[in-house]
Amino acid sequence: MSEQDVDKSRRRFLTAATTVVGAIGAGVAVVPFVGSMMPSARALSAGAPVEVDISKLEPGRRLVIEWRKKPVWVVHRTKQNLEDLAKLEGKLADVESNSSQQPAYAKNKHRSIKPEYLVVVGICTHLGCSPQYRPEVGNVSFDSAWLGGFFCPCHGSKFDLAGRVYAGVPAPVNLVIPPYMYTNGDKVVVIGEDGGVA
Ligand code: FES
Repeated sequence: MSEQDVDKSRRRFLTAATTVVGAIGAGVAVVPFVGSMMPSARALSAGAPVEVDISKLEPGRRLVIEWRKKPVWVVHRTKQNLEDLAKLEGKLADVESNSSQQPAYAKNKHRSIKPEYLVVVGICTHLGCSPQYRPEVGNVSFDSAWLGGFFCPCHGSKFDLAGRVYAGVPAPVNLVIPPYMYTNGDKVVVIGEDGGVA
Protein backbone atom coordinates (compact mmCIF):
# COMPACT_ATOMS: atom_id res chain seq x y z
CA MET A 1 0.00 0.00 0.00
CA SER A 2 1.35 3.47 -0.88
CA GLU A 3 1.65 6.26 1.65
CA GLN A 4 -1.07 8.06 -0.20
CA ASP A 5 -3.42 5.11 0.38
CA VAL A 6 -2.58 5.06 4.07
CA ASP A 7 -3.25 8.80 4.27
CA LYS A 8 -6.56 8.23 2.56
CA SER A 9 -7.44 5.55 5.11
CA ARG A 10 -6.61 7.85 7.97
CA ARG A 11 -8.78 10.53 6.47
CA ARG A 12 -11.58 8.02 6.16
CA PHE A 13 -11.22 7.11 9.82
CA LEU A 14 -11.38 10.76 10.83
CA THR A 15 -14.51 11.12 8.75
CA ALA A 16 -15.92 7.96 10.33
CA ALA A 17 -15.12 9.22 13.83
CA THR A 18 -16.86 12.51 13.07
CA THR A 19 -19.85 10.60 11.78
CA VAL A 20 -20.04 8.63 15.02
CA VAL A 21 -20.16 11.83 17.07
CA GLY A 22 -22.79 13.18 14.68
CA ALA A 23 -24.81 9.99 15.09
CA ILE A 24 -24.77 10.35 18.87
CA GLY A 25 -26.03 13.90 18.51
CA ALA A 26 -28.85 12.78 16.21
CA GLY A 27 -29.74 9.96 18.61
CA VAL A 28 -30.28 12.41 21.44
CA ALA A 29 -32.81 14.30 19.38
CA VAL A 30 -34.75 11.23 18.32
CA VAL A 31 -34.51 8.86 21.26
CA PRO A 32 -34.79 10.68 24.61
CA PHE A 33 -33.26 7.91 26.74
CA VAL A 34 -29.99 8.21 24.83
CA GLY A 35 -29.47 11.55 26.58
CA SER A 36 -29.11 9.85 29.93
CA MET A 37 -26.26 7.76 28.55
CA MET A 38 -24.11 10.67 27.50
CA PRO A 39 -21.00 11.07 29.65
CA SER A 40 -20.01 14.53 30.79
CA ALA A 41 -17.38 16.38 28.78
CA ARG A 42 -15.14 16.25 31.83
CA ALA A 43 -15.44 12.46 32.08
CA LEU A 44 -14.62 12.12 28.40
CA SER A 45 -11.55 14.32 28.51
CA ALA A 46 -10.24 12.47 31.57
CA GLY A 47 -10.68 9.11 29.86
CA ALA A 48 -12.97 8.15 32.73
CA PRO A 49 -15.29 5.14 32.54
CA VAL A 50 -18.52 5.78 30.65
CA GLU A 51 -21.88 4.44 31.82
CA VAL A 52 -24.41 3.31 29.22
CA ASP A 53 -28.05 2.48 29.92
CA ILE A 54 -28.81 -0.58 27.78
CA SER A 55 -32.28 -1.29 29.17
CA LYS A 56 -34.02 -0.05 26.01
CA LEU A 57 -31.58 -1.49 23.49
CA GLU A 58 -33.66 -3.93 21.46
CA PRO A 59 -32.35 -7.22 20.04
CA GLY A 60 -30.58 -6.61 16.75
CA ARG A 61 -29.77 -2.98 17.54
CA ARG A 62 -26.49 -1.26 18.31
CA LEU A 63 -25.52 1.71 20.47
CA VAL A 64 -22.47 3.83 19.67
CA ILE A 65 -20.68 5.46 22.59
CA GLU A 66 -17.47 7.45 22.73
CA TRP A 67 -14.88 6.31 25.26
CA ARG A 68 -11.36 7.73 25.32
CA LYS A 69 -12.10 9.35 21.96
CA LYS A 70 -12.83 5.96 20.43
CA PRO A 71 -16.16 4.60 19.21
CA VAL A 72 -17.38 1.73 21.38
CA TRP A 73 -20.34 -0.32 20.24
CA VAL A 74 -22.83 -2.21 22.35
CA VAL A 75 -24.77 -4.71 20.22
CA HIS A 76 -27.79 -6.60 21.53
CA ARG A 77 -27.43 -9.92 19.70
CA THR A 78 -30.49 -11.98 18.92
CA LYS A 79 -30.82 -15.68 19.70
CA GLN A 80 -30.34 -16.33 15.99
CA ASN A 81 -27.16 -14.20 15.95
CA LEU A 82 -25.73 -16.34 18.75
CA GLU A 83 -26.57 -19.55 16.90
CA ASP A 84 -24.96 -18.16 13.73
CA LEU A 85 -21.67 -17.42 15.50
CA ALA A 86 -21.01 -21.15 15.78
CA LYS A 87 -21.61 -21.63 12.03
CA LEU A 88 -18.84 -19.18 11.12
CA GLU A 89 -15.96 -20.80 12.93
CA GLY A 90 -14.41 -22.36 9.82
CA LYS A 91 -14.15 -18.93 8.19
CA LEU A 92 -12.39 -17.09 11.00
CA ALA A 93 -8.71 -16.31 11.58
CA ASP A 94 -8.64 -16.34 15.39
CA VAL A 95 -11.67 -18.30 16.60
CA GLU A 96 -10.41 -18.65 20.18
CA SER A 97 -9.13 -15.05 20.31
CA ASN A 98 -5.66 -16.29 21.26
CA SER A 99 -3.93 -13.49 19.31
CA SER A 100 -6.51 -10.83 20.02
CA GLN A 101 -7.03 -8.25 22.74
CA GLN A 102 -9.78 -8.71 25.31
CA PRO A 103 -10.15 -9.06 29.09
CA ALA A 104 -10.09 -12.66 30.36
CA TYR A 105 -13.87 -12.64 30.95
CA ALA A 106 -14.42 -11.95 27.24
CA LYS A 107 -12.10 -14.66 25.94
CA ASN A 108 -14.86 -17.02 24.96
CA LYS A 109 -16.91 -17.87 21.87
CA HIS A 110 -19.15 -14.80 22.13
CA ARG A 111 -16.35 -12.54 23.41
CA SER A 112 -18.48 -11.01 26.13
CA ILE A 113 -19.66 -11.31 29.72
CA LYS A 114 -23.28 -12.00 28.75
CA PRO A 115 -23.81 -13.84 25.46
CA GLU A 116 -26.52 -11.45 24.27
CA TYR A 117 -24.49 -8.23 24.58
CA LEU A 118 -21.30 -7.49 22.66
CA VAL A 119 -19.21 -4.54 23.86
CA VAL A 120 -16.42 -3.80 21.40
CA VAL A 121 -14.13 -0.99 20.24
CA GLY A 122 -15.35 0.02 16.78
CA ILE A 123 -11.96 0.46 15.14
CA CYS A 124 -10.64 -1.88 12.46
CA THR A 125 -7.49 -3.71 13.52
CA HIS A 126 -5.96 -3.19 10.06
CA LEU A 127 -5.39 0.56 9.68
CA GLY A 128 -7.95 2.07 11.99
CA CYS A 129 -11.04 2.79 9.90
CA SER A 130 -14.40 2.40 11.61
CA PRO A 131 -16.25 -0.65 10.19
CA GLN A 132 -19.94 -0.59 9.31
CA TYR A 133 -22.52 -2.47 11.38
CA ARG A 134 -24.06 -4.92 8.91
CA PRO A 135 -26.59 -7.08 10.78
CA GLU A 136 -28.40 -8.25 7.67
CA VAL A 137 -28.20 -11.88 6.56
CA GLY A 138 -27.86 -13.26 3.02
CA ASN A 139 -26.16 -12.26 -0.21
CA VAL A 140 -24.51 -8.85 0.25
CA SER A 141 -22.05 -7.05 -2.01
CA PHE A 142 -19.00 -8.28 -0.07
CA ASP A 143 -20.16 -11.81 0.90
CA SER A 144 -22.61 -14.20 -0.73
CA ALA A 145 -23.51 -15.95 2.54
CA TRP A 146 -23.27 -13.20 5.13
CA LEU A 147 -24.55 -13.97 8.63
CA GLY A 148 -24.29 -10.46 10.04
CA GLY A 149 -21.30 -8.65 11.47
CA PHE A 150 -19.09 -5.70 10.68
CA PHE A 151 -17.60 -4.73 7.34
CA CYS A 152 -14.68 -2.36 6.92
CA PRO A 153 -15.07 -0.55 3.59
CA CYS A 154 -11.48 0.76 3.59
CA HIS A 155 -9.87 -2.51 2.51
CA GLY A 156 -12.62 -5.11 2.88
CA SER A 157 -12.02 -6.67 6.30
CA LYS A 158 -14.96 -8.62 7.72
CA PHE A 159 -15.78 -9.41 11.35
CA ASP A 160 -18.57 -11.52 12.79
CA LEU A 161 -21.00 -10.35 15.48
CA ALA A 162 -18.45 -11.25 18.15
CA GLY A 163 -15.88 -8.97 16.48
CA ARG A 164 -13.91 -12.02 15.27
CA VAL A 165 -12.01 -11.38 12.05
CA TYR A 166 -12.51 -13.51 8.95
CA ALA A 167 -9.49 -15.31 7.51
CA GLY A 168 -7.96 -13.88 4.33
CA VAL A 169 -8.75 -10.20 4.93
CA PRO A 170 -6.26 -7.41 5.69
CA ALA A 171 -7.14 -7.05 9.41
CA PRO A 172 -4.87 -9.47 11.33
CA VAL A 173 -6.77 -9.88 14.60
CA ASN A 174 -10.22 -9.58 16.15
CA LEU A 175 -11.71 -6.25 17.19
CA VAL A 176 -10.61 -5.12 20.65
CA ILE A 177 -12.89 -5.73 23.64
CA PRO A 178 -12.49 -2.97 26.26
CA PRO A 179 -12.72 -3.57 30.01
CA TYR A 180 -16.34 -3.26 31.14
CA MET A 181 -18.81 -4.46 33.74
CA TYR A 182 -22.51 -4.38 34.52
CA THR A 183 -24.14 -2.39 37.27
CA ASN A 184 -27.57 -1.20 38.39
CA GLY A 185 -29.30 -4.56 38.08
CA ASP A 186 -27.46 -5.22 34.79
CA LYS A 187 -29.26 -2.34 33.11
CA VAL A 188 -26.11 -0.26 32.85
CA VAL A 189 -22.78 -1.12 31.28
CA VAL A 190 -19.70 0.68 32.58
CA ILE A 191 -17.08 0.91 29.85
CA GLY A 192 -13.48 1.35 30.95
CA GLU A 193 -13.92 -0.15 34.40
CA ASP A 194 -14.28 -3.75 35.51
CA GLY A 195 -13.44 -3.67 39.18
CA GLY A 196 -10.04 -5.19 38.49
CA VAL A 197 -11.38 -8.63 37.58
CA ALA A 198 -9.76 -8.77 34.11
S1 FES B 1 -8.66 -0.29 7.83
FE1 FES B 1 -8.06 -1.63 6.26
S2 FES B 1 -9.64 -3.10 6.24
FE2 FES B 1 -10.19 -1.82 7.85
